[in-house]
Formats: sequence, structure tokens, C-alpha cells
Amino acid sequence: MNPKKLPEDDIQAAVVLLRAGETVAFPTETVYGLGADARNPLAVQKIFWIKGRPADHPLIVHIADVSHLDMWAENISGAVWRLAESFWPGPLTLILPRRRDVPKDVSGGQDTIGLRIPDHPVAASLLRAFGGGIAAPSANRFGRVSPTTAQHVRDGLGSKVGMILEGGPCRVGVESTIVSLVNGNAVLLRPGGISLEEIEDTLGQKVFSGHSGSGNARVPGMLASHYAPATPLEIHPGSLLGHRALQLVWQGCKVAVVTLREDGECFESRRIITTCMPRSAAEYGRVLYSTLHRLDRAGFDRLLIEAPPVTPEWLAVNDRIQRAAHGTVKGTISGKKLSPSSGEVEPSVKEIFKFL
Ligand code: TXA
Ligand code: MG
Repeated sequence: MNPKKLPEDDIQAAVVLLRAGETVAFPTETVYGLGADARNPLAVQKIFWIKGRPADHPLIVHIADVSHLDMWAENISGAVWRLAESFWPGPLTLILPRRRDVPKDVSGGQDTIGLRIPDHPVAASLLRAFGGGIAAPSANRFGRVSPTTAQHVRDGLGSKVGMILEGGPCRVGVESTIVSLVNGNAVLLRPGGISLEEIEDTLGQKVFSGHSGSGNARVPGMLASHYAPATPLEIHPGSLLGHRALQLVWQGCKVAVVTLREDGECFESRRIITTCMPRSAAEYGRVLYSTLHRLDRAGFDRLLIEAPPVTPEWLAVNDRIQRAAHGTVKGTISGKKLSPSSGEVEPSVKEIFKFL
């Protein structure tokens, strides 16, 4: 992107590309999306190809205004309108019965459709200028960590994308909350920026959890293994982190430790660094993916993450790090007394215990 260009010019250029059936990556308040005209099946196919995503996995359609809801969904209940009016624009995706005239490619052949209005000025301008719905999954390769900056999109998808709109770092940092309202029941499919409690309060009814990690292959955000960095990742309680880090360092690994300690308590040496994360769940969520992207590129053999608290406000963060860890490495800590595997000991390794 030419930085001298006015954003309005970029929006117009993006609209021309979307109308021509090309893809445009754009910022939202959650993560960057890889967008295409939702009513153009060939354009939608390009998204699947660029991401390397199986064609039966449904995409979210982004719309400009609540009044567009019934252009995409049918049998819209009062509960749906209440949620849409309370939380849109915002990090909430509603899964609803798909209108029959909406091409089924966008929802992976399913009879339902995922809809949301993003809360980001660039996304809002793009949607208004384009006029129609923009299908957009997160702008990353299938199964990888979602992008929260334009640079992450460039690093992950590069020249495959028609254009990347710049919009700064994403404010929420984890993907939208997904609620299905298809059969009268409200079911939480993915925790995210809007909490379960907020949704239950607005609906005045219980929201069931469909978020089981059951491995439903048609809902990729729910696959047990997803949002994963290339570097193997383990999650451990704070009390075991130092022990595990030391074990790995003694095996010759370069280790990055992501903790919930205060900044001043962070530690760095030749084979181990710690990154101190915010202690508020919302702040943690905002920087989680950028931290994973950064550490993933830094050449560590292993990422160790301190397990966050298991309270409702940490639901989305816990969900994402569990999926990031799944299938990479099982956290194993032997009860055996450790000893160095070679004569070489990290010079400052004793200090690790002071900090972890
Ligand atoms: O925050 C977000 O939701 C971001 C931004 C770009 O809007 N988008 C995003 O899209 O995370 P994606 O495709 O990476 O994840 C969307 C999730 C997937 O797990 C998909 O299977 C699910 O939404 N989904 C979409 N349509 C669905 C449908 N009709 N039924 C069930 N799940 C659906
Ligand atoms: Mg995704």
C-alpha cells in the first residue's frame, strides 16, 4: 500500500477490486479479515484457495447495517433483533437460517449463515462504499494464528491478496463471539469479545454451550487444533513454569515463556526469555496474537504459556491458547529430579527460579 494515498482512495480502490471478484484484506476490531463479495461464488472460492481452507467450512458475511439482516437471513426472531441492536457494530457473529437466494458457497453448503457488523472505521467505510455483504474469515492460513495487524497479513498471505487495507492494531484482538440462533435455542459456538453473561442478560434466557472442542470439521474455529503458531506450545500453571523451562533449557532448547508476572519481574538470558502479559483478560486478549506472531518468528524451540485464571472473563483467551497448544506438544513434566543433559549449563539459569 502506498502510505501517501488518502484512506478514501484506498477504500475506493478496494471497492473496485471487490466488484471485480478480487480479495481485499481489511481491519476489524477483532482481527483482520480476508474479504470478498459474498454473493460472488468465484470470489468466495478465492478466499478458500488463499487460506488453504476446506470448501465446506462456512464464512462470516460482514454487513454495513442492521437493516441488511433480512437480505441474508430468514425467520428472524425478536431475540435476534435484540442481540443485533444491542451488540452491532461489535464483536458478535449470529448464525441464522440462510435466505434461499444467498449463494450457499459462502456458508460451506450449510442452510445457515453467519452475520456480523464489525466495529472498525475502515471496515465500516468499506462496507458502506461497497454496499453489499463481504464474506471474510480471519486473514491467515488455515489453522494458523489470526492477524491483528496489516503486517501479520502481509507476512502470512503476502501477494496472494488483491489489497491489504491498513487500520492499525486490532482493539479486541481475538475473534468475535459466535452465537447460533437457528432452532429457537441460543448456543454459544465460540467465546469472544462479547461475554456469555452479556448475551444472556440481553436475551433473558440461558445460552447453551456448543463450544466443546468436539472437532466438528465444518466449524474450523471449533477444531481442537486451531489458531496455532508453528513453534510447539505448552500451557502450565505458574508454579510449574520455571521447572519446565529449566528442563527444556537443559535439553538444549531455546525457550520463550509467556507469564502473567509484572513487567519488572521479566527475565531474559541467552536461551530463555519471558514476556510479561497484562493481567486483565481484555488487555491480554488484545496482545495475545501479536505476542504469538512475534515469538513464532523469533526462532524459539518451544513456547511456554502460564495458564491464565479459569474465570468467565478469561473464557475466550483460555479457548484460544488451548487450541493453539493442541496437537503441538503435550505438556509433560516428569517428577524426576532434573540434571543437565550435557556439561553445559545456562550461565544464569539459577536465576530463572527467582523470576518464574
Ligand atoms: O472476529 C471474527 O469473527 C473474524 C473477523 C474477520 O470478522 N472472522 C473470523 O472468521 O474469525 P473465521 O472464518 O476465521 O471464523 C469464523 C467461524 C468459523 O469457525 C466458522 O466455521 C464459523 O465462524 N461459522 C461461520 N458461518 C457459520 C455457520 N453458518 N454455521 C456455523 N459456524 C459458522
Ligand atoms: Mg479464523
